[in-house]
Amino acid sequence: EEIEKGGYEHFMLKEIHEQPKAIQDTYRGRLLRDQAIIKMAGVEDNMKKFLNANRIIIVACGTSWHAGLVAEYIFEDLARIPVEVEYASEFRYRNPVITENDVLIAISQSGETADTLAAIKLAKSKGAFVFGVCNVVGSSIARETHAGAYTHAGPEIGVASTKAFTTQITVLTLMALRLARAKGTISSSDYRHHLLELEMIPSKVEEALKSDAHIKYIADIYKEATNCLYLGRGYNFPVALEGALKLKEISYIHAEGYPAAEMKHGPIALIDENMPVIVIATKKGHYEKVVSNIQEIKSRKGKIIGIVTEGDEQVKALADHVIEVPETLEPLTPLLTTIPLQLLSYHIAVLLDKNVDQPRNLAKSVTVE
Ligand code: G6P
Repeated sequence: EEIEKGGYEHFMLKEIHEQPKAIQDTYRGRLLRDQAIIKMAGVEDNMKKFLNANRIIIVACGTSWHAGLVAEYIFEDLARIPVEVEYASEFRYRNPVITENDVLIAISQSGETADTLAAIKLAKSKGAFVFGVCNVVGSSIARETHAGAYTHAGPEIGVASTKAFTTQITVLTLMALRLARAKGTISSSDYRHHLLELEMIPSKVEEALKSDAHIKYIADIYKEATNCLYLGRGYNFPVALEGALKLKEISYIHAEGYPAAEMKHGPIALIDENMPVIVIATKKGHYEKVVSNIQEIKSRKGKIIGIVTEGDEQVKALADHVIEVPETLEPLTPLLTTIPLQLLSYHIAVLLDKNVDQPRNLAKSVTVE
């Protein structure tokens, strides 16, 4: 096992650090920037299904569901296809309206999650076209779907999902861009710009990982917290949810993710000097509005940890701590803002002496209801 950990103390840390390579493996052979082409056989072979779709329904559980939420923003923004994202466990039991013109995308790292598998069978029985985004080759979900795309993240051992999440987002981004091009909802120059930026993500993730020591220092300050709030907006709202989930899963600290603007409808009542609030406040995407949320937190003495774009001054002046990530296009920011949140939960859990790779009560894959 020590050999498998490749010199890292835990699988989770190894997998966090594998992300630059995992993301590259995900788009290798698919993103052909010189030719300005995205090649994905599962999409190409079924282009008509996607182009004629009334809507896309995404089903998943846990972290994969968060990747689905990011995908909702990307598909709607770039490809102008209406998207609904559902917990597989809710979808399968609520007698959903599904037609032959619906496309269902099932996202699953393991490809074995019982609820997701059941949702697929239901959608198929109603005549929908079902596409799988899985990591494990030959898994039940990969076999049960009509077509799909693998994430190629390599084996993920840590129960708390990390590289599976960022590679799922990468696959879904490639799909959204390919469909946007086919539908003509993105200009040729914008499309090329996205391809270029996507290709630069691995080196930017590498850059984001360099904040590790600084994040460990922050983790040490807040490790005794009993509650944490994670806020984000737009593309980074699902990242806030995922950040909170990571902290809960491995450190057992209660954490909640919220859309930043919803703070005033509830969570703001919880803010006092004992409440760390992690705010994703990158330059693109409602920056000024998030800055005013930060001011509201500050005036209630909440402790602010800002996830900001490199060189940011405004949030830096207000926050207790900032963690910088490189700049990129807005739809790609989740691939970067996720990284410091993974490291923060990792370090807190290690400092609290928790079992990082196998947290209590959790399983890597939930194959029963
Ligand atoms: C479990 C795992 C999570 C994972 C979820 C969905 O809860 O602990 O890390 O996100 O299942 O798993 P899947 O394999 O379908 O992505």
